[in-house]
Amino acid sequence: MSKYASWTHGKLPLTELAELKRRGQKLAMVTAYDFPSGRIADEAGVELVLVGDSAAMVVLGNESTVPVTMEELLMLTRAVTRGATRPLVVADMPFGSFQVSDEVAVANAVRFVKEAGADAVKLEGAGPTLSRVQAIVGAGVPVMGHVGLTPQSATMLGGFKAQGRTAEKAERLYEDALALEAAGCFAVVLEAVPAAVAGRVTGALSVPTIGIGAGVACDGQVLVWHDLLGLYAGKAPRFVKRYADLAGEAKRALEAYVDDVREGRFPEEQHTYAIPDEELEAFESWVASHDVAQAQHEQR
Ligand code: KIV
Repeated sequence: MSKYASWTHGKLPLTELAELKRRGQKLAMVTAYDFPSGRIADEAGVELVLVGDSAAMVVLGNESTVPVTMEELLMLTRAVTRGATRPLVVADMPFGSFQVSDEVAVANAVRFVKEAGADAVKLEGAGPTLSRVQAIVGAGVPVMGHVGLTPQSATMLGGFKAQGRTAEKAERLYEDALALEAAGCFAVVLEAVPAAVAGRVTGALSVPTIGIGAGVACDGQVLVWHDLLGLYAGKAPRFVKRYADLAGEAKRALEAYVDDVREGRFPEEQHTYAIPDEELEAFESWVASHDVAQAQHEQR
């Protein structure tokens, strides 16, 4: 029997997500930032692909997620949506793209759908973000919420730290998640939240929770592509599970290539193009007469 209630081919319907939660089936989400990563994520069977503002750090080399711009994320989202045609592609709204007003937030969310082919957008925070969520959903763009550790406001949170670790803060987080669902979010990311708190929040929401550092009780999990595959040189947070060492593999491959080039072992016959014998002969005799003419010219 199919895992899905209504999906058979083409794009996964958004409504499948709540249905999968209801059935107790977990959702897999991963970030992607270009065409090949979008395609591999699709082929691997994830339900959701996030074009995260983590691109600022893992792709563009910034110290935080704050500097990435709308134009940069639009370009990356366009590439991902060309590769990931079955999963739902969620574009992260970068810092500054939704904080100013509901109108600016709607305009930028619409750009992700219209210009980059995203299926939904993700916004960090609750409180002032709630009216943005309502406005964007009202404009017809599905929204994923994000509470707990929200990297765009890491400075205000006192750094990249787990959130909701006192009863008061856990209550606040619980209320925020419920408020995001009420505002119209189709799913909520819980980042760096104690597993017991995330479990309670998950039980209270009818839309799926997607955890990252929030324990196994969440309805789904998300990891950053570079962390999952061992591509990021920086220190990974404790919640990362590394499934491969692609940076090591890439370095080994490149070292072998450098050696082959230096030793003349690459390219081989199979990597080169041939020319018919008679064409080569004609060319060689042209080169010879050309060389003679050149030498005569230089003697003059
Ligand atoms: O930008 C990102 O990659 C994210 C995930 C960590 C949820 O927001």
